[in-house]
Amino acid sequence: MWIARSKTELQKNLDSLPRPIVLVPTMGALHLGHAALIDLARKHAGTEGSVLVSIFVNPIQFDKPADLENYPRTEDEDLETCKTHGVDGVFLPEIGEMYSKDRSIMVTENQLSQDLCGATRSGHFDGVCTVVLKLFNLTQCDAAVFGEKDFQQLAVIQRMVRDLDLHIQIIPHPTLRVADGLAMSSRNRRLTLEQRADAPRIRKALLAASQKSSAAEIISTAREIIETSPLTTIDYLKLVNAENLQPTDQITSTCILACAVFYGDVRLIDHIKIPYC
Ligand code: PAJ
Repeated sequence: MWIARSKTELQKNLDSLPRPIVLVPTMGALHLGHAALIDLARKHAGTEGSVLVSIFVNPIQFDKPADLENYPRTEDEDLETCKTHGVDGVFLPEIGEMYSKDRSIMVTENQLSQDLCGATRSGHFDGVCTVVLKLFNLTQCDAAVFGEKDFQQLAVIQRMVRDLDLHIQIIPHPTLRVADGLAMSSRNRRLTLEQRADAPRIRKALLAASQKSSAAEIISTAREIIETSPLTTIDYLKLVNAENLQPTDQITSTCILACAVFYGDVRLIDHIKIPYC
């Protein structure tokens, strides 16, 4: 497995790389969820094709400097995970390698990114789109795998591919969960023992809510279960249309019940499709 820390090194390795090239973009601190994405990438690439992983904590998608600073960095373990899962090459650029000091072009998304995580994280999805487009260009990948856990991110990336005519197949992977139902996340390791023990209530709340038939009941059921805990604060809890991610109170088409919940300063996200099956 090769490791490229610069664009020049990456380019050298790409020259002899067999296609299809399937990319798994990450910010590191890899867990079993990321590993599952890598395995799916291999399935799509086949034994003949190539699987690339990028590890880059992208500063322009963080709205709070403290979040960027606190983001876990576990390079040695990440490289070990990549090796174990048969990755062909890892792109691990420095910030200066990705962004010129006087950079002045961004990708902007004006619809799907406005609510949910976008409402409180100004510029977040523009930062995601910009880095993902750069990673697509730099790796010249044919396909890329993204987790459904970040369903708004996935929708925004799919929209970017459509609207900018990118010739890249986006492959979604279902959310990986711990046995108690908590969605795997790099942020889980920042929870205290007490918070970690409480956190499966998020999934329980979404599951209980998904059994209700009206929008009002769905929201109130989930809210009650989450707010029963003294450790949580709800950032948002919303029912949105699965197509356009606009808030809705009609359950006529597929909807998504999505939430972001704070445990202290750790913000966890999860969602469930309604009707759930
Ligand atoms: P990161 O949070 O490292 O996630 C990388 C990929 O792993 C994303 O596609 C995310 O949806 C997926 N993922 C994380 N936890 C998962 C889980 N429990 N189950 C399934 N997939 C999971 O998302 C980012 O990085 C960044 O925004 C990035 C796209 C790399 C751009 O900087």
